[in-house]
Amino acid sequence: MINLIKELTNAYGPSGQEEVIRSLIQKRIASKVDEMYTDTLGNLIAVKKGPGKRIMLAAHMDEIGLIATFVDEKGFIRFSNSGGVSPFIAAGQRVIFRNGTIGMVCYEENLEDMKDLKMNRMYIDIGTKNREETERLVNPGDMSVFVGEALEQNNRYISKALDDRIGCAILIALIERMGSTENEIVFVFTVQEEVGLRGAGPAAYGIKPDLAIAVDVTNTGDTPDCKPLAIDLGKGPAIMVKDNRTISHPLVKDALVECAQQENIPYQMEVLNVGGNDAGAIHITAGGIPSGGVSIPCRYLHRPCEMVDKNDVENTIRLLEAFIKRP
Ligand code: CO
Ligand code: ZN
Repeated sequence: MINLIKELTNAYGPSGQEEVIRSLIQKRIASKVDEMYTDTLGNLIAVKKGPGKRIMLAAHMDEIGLIATFVDEKGFIRFSNSGGVSPFIAAGQRVIFRNGTIGMVCYEENLEDMKDLKMNRMYIDIGTKNREETERLVNPGDMSVFVGEALEQNNRYISKALDDRIGCAILIALIERMGSTENEIVFVFTVQEEVGLRGAGPAAYGIKPDLAIAVDVTNTGDTPDCKPLAIDLGKGPAIMVKDNRTISHPLVKDALVECAQQENIPYQMEVLNVGGNDAGAIHITAGGIPSGGVSIPCRYLHRPCEMVDKNDVENTIRLLEAFIKRP
C-alpha cells in the first residue's frame, strides 16, 4: 500500500489539471475493469459490470495548491490559493510546479503581526534573478502543489495530498481485490472537489447510479487542544451522518452501519457542521441520488503532513467491499 500511496501522492494534480494523476490511475486499473472513460470535465469513470444495482463510489483526484498571479521585476511570484490553503500553513513550505520547478513560499519581512499574514503579503521564490528568468519557468496561471514525500511510520501514513489520494488508493485496492460482481460498481475518480465539488455532480448525472458513496478524508478530534469532534485516528472508518452539504440518505448510512456490524469492522459516526465532500454534489443531481460517505479519519487536513492510520485504511476497504456485495 505505501508504494501505491507514494505514487499517487507524488503525482501532480491541482484542481482542473488532473491529467498526470488521472493517467497514472488509468494505467494502473485499465486491465482490471470492464469499461473505462473520461467524461467532458475530466472525471475518470471505471466500471465493473453486473446485473444488479448500480453503485457509484467517488474519490477526488485533485489536490489543493497555489496559483501564480503576477511576477514582479525581481522575479518573485505573487499567488493566490486554489482550494483551502491557509497562509499560516503555506508559509515556509516548498511547492512544485507542473514542470518540476520548486518554489519556496515566503512572506514580506516587514509584516509585524502574524495576524496580518494574508496571501497578498506573500510570494514564491524560485531562485531566479529577474522577471525574465522567472517567466521562462513560471507564468501567471501556473499552479503549484505542496512538496512532502509520503512515509509510513508507527502504523500511520503521512503525506501531502492524502486528501484525497488515500481515497483513490482505496478505490484502486477495491478494484484489484474484487472479482466478478452482482451489482454494477462504478468507480469515479473526480475532478475539482477542492474548489467546490464541481466534478462529481455532472459525473453522477451521466451515470445515474441507484446509490452513491463519497470516499474522502475527514478531520479528527484527537490532537492537543483541538475542537471537540468524536472522531479519532485508528478507531475505524467514519460513516457520514451529515456535513455542511449533505445529510446522508438512510438507505446508504444504515446499510453501512449494518455492514460494519456484520463484518466486525470498527466504525465511527461522522457529524460535521462544516465542510462538504463529493456526496454534496452527487445527491442533488439527476432527480436525486441516495448518497452517503465513508471517511478516512485524517489529522492535519490540507497540510503537507496529513496523517491517516493504516488500520483505518484497511477497514475502509473491507467496509466498502461488504457494502458493494449487498443485494
Ligand atoms: Co480537501
Ligand atoms: Zn477531500
